[in-house]
Amino acid sequence: RTPLVIDTDPGIDDALAILLALASPEVDLRLVTAVHGNVELAQTTENALRVLHLAGRSDVPVAAGAAGPLVHPLPERAGHVHGAAGLGGVELPASPAAVDPRPAVVALADLLMAHEPGTVTVAPIGPLTNLALLLHVFPEAAARIGRVVWMGGSATRGGNVTAAAEFNAWADPEAAQAVLRSGLPVTMVGLDVTLPTVLTQAGIDRFRDAGGRVGATAAAVLQQYVDSARNSYGIDGVCVHDALALTEAITPGTLGTVRRDVVVDTTLGAARGQTLVDHRSVAEHGVAVAETVDSEAAVEFLVDRISSYGA
Ligand code: BDR
Ligand code: CA
Repeated sequence: RTPLVIDTDPGIDDALAILLALASPEVDLRLVTAVHGNVELAQTTENALRVLHLAGRSDVPVAAGAAGPLVHPLPERAGHVHGAAGLGGVELPASPAAVDPRPAVVALADLLMAHEPGTVTVAPIGPLTNLALLLHVFPEAAARIGRVVWMGGSATRGGNVTAAAEFNAWADPEAAQAVLRSGLPVTMVGLDVTLPTVLTQAGIDRFRDAGGRVGATAAAVLQQYVDSARNSYGIDGVCVHDALALTEAITPGTLGTVRRDVVVDTTLGAARGQTLVDHRSVAEHGVAVAETVDSEAAVEFLVDRISSYGA
């Protein structure tokens, strides 16, 4: 089983991604680190604790990380998408577990130093602030990461928070640039593959009915998000970005990737947070950019695993 760390800002799709990892025997979730993003850090940390508790896994430590981006404060967060408390207006029961007393980077460094180099997968599904800090503060620990599977960026689809930028890249472009240029083995799971991967109402109904208390709660957390997609865009279903990144972390090779040179726009103009992917050639040491996906299979995988909570 691959030791796994999830770095997250729950977040509706973050919650689903955590539940997916916990339902997957291929990985062993050893640590969750919280980061600012969809909502404030105190709330993402609390939400991470509650999601683990929902799955009966409050033994997994949760450490709090960065409260804001490295350089420029954010003008806004994504509370309008995820609900003011980040979980679609659903209040999960409080966890009996306390937050790990260590800062996220320390918890992460401790874990990496306790494992053989190259064995741990880190899945950041929020802004990359914590990982950028790890690179600066504990470079020898960062160098031991086996694989980074990041949900973020966009190679060909433009942005979702601005015309240019995907949310996780936009929320800390300097951090994204540091991580993507670090030489770490990064897979970028961006909007190119997450936008076409739509979890429909029928899929949600399946795990609501089959997935016991966890499945029913996951469905409730998703409901507002699904309703707003239907009302605002006439679409049946939602993109569960972070869960797709976790699918790639759990079963490497799910997505078709090509090594590309990627630069993040860190200027303060209209393109801030854009991930500029060089499609002119394959880069020997670039980022593995996810370019193709079997969306139907990915959604089936997710629905299946969340349904398994009922068994
Ligand atoms: C990403 O932004 C957040 O709102 C989601 O949780 C996901 O990580 C999608 O752009
Ligand atoms: Ca997220």
